[in-house]
Amino acid sequence: MTVTPTLSERADELEHRQIAALERIVDPSVLFTSGERDPTVPIPMRFNTLKSGQHVLMGDDPRLKKMPAKPTLTNFFRRRFAPANHLLQSATHALKAGMNEKVVTACLLHDIAILGFIRSDHGYWGAQLVAPYVDEEVSWAIRAHQALRFYPDESVGYDYPDQYVKLFGADYKPEPYIEEAYKRARRHKWYMTARMITVYDIYSFDPDATVSFDEFTDILGRNFRQPEEGLGFDDSPVAHMWRTIIWPTKFL
Ligand SMILES: [Fe+2]
Ligand SMILES: [Fe+2]
Repeated sequence: MTVTPTLSERADELEHRQIAALERIVDPSVLFTSGERDPTVPIPMRFNTLKSGQHVLMGDDPRLKKMPAKPTLTNFFRRRFAPANHLLQSATHALKAGMNEKVVTACLLHDIAILGFIRSDHGYWGAQLVAPYVDEEVSWAIRAHQALRFYPDESVGYDYPDQYVKLFGADYKPEPYIEEAYKRARRHKWYMTARMITVYDIYSFDPDATVSFDEFTDILGRNFRQPEEGLGFDDSPVAHMWRTIIWPTKFL
C-alpha cells in the first residue's frame, strides 16, 4: 500500500535534496495550522538562520501544482482536490438516481474541505468555502451533512455506516454540538437535500469506477457562480480561504 507522505515528510525529503540551496525556504513554523505539530512545543525557527540571499516562502510552493492567476473551481479540482474520485462518484450516483442539480452540486462539493483544506469539521469549512457562489440550499446541505451522516434515517434507507464503527469504534458518540446540529437539521425545510448527500456518500468508495469531472461542467456552470477575478481574488468573505489553499505554506 502506498502511503502519501505528509507535508513535513515531503519537506524533509526535499531538504535532503538540498532545499537549503533554494532561494526560498518553507519555515516549519508555517505547518502549525496543519496540526502536524504541537504549537506549544518550541521548534527551531529557520527564519532566524537564513543564509545570505535566502528568504522564506511567500508565494508558490514548488512542491505543489502551480495555480493560474484567476483560478476557477475546475483549476482547484484538478490541481488541489485531485484525485477527487470520492466526490465524482458521489455526484455520479446522485445524477444517476435522478436527483436535481442542487443535490448533485452538493454531492460534488461536499468534501472539498477534506480534499484541499482541513479535515476537522470539514462540513462547516466546505459550506463556508462555497457559500458565496452557490444557492443557499447547497451550502446549507454541505454544512448539515457534517452531523447527519452520524444519524440513520430509515425513510431513505440510510443506516449508521459500518465503516464508522471501524473508524471510530463501536462506542463513539458524536459530540453534543453535533447532536444539536442534527436536531436542528432534522426540522429544517432543506433536511432532505443534506440527507441525500449522506445517502450518495456512503457507497462512493469504488476504486475501479471511472468518473470524470468533465461530466459536471454544465451542472457547475449553472450552479456555481465562478467569480470573474478568480477564486481567492474576488474580495468575498471567503477569498482568503481559497488563497490559503493556493498558498498553504506562505510564511505570512
Ligand atoms: Fe463528508
Ligand atoms: Fe463524503
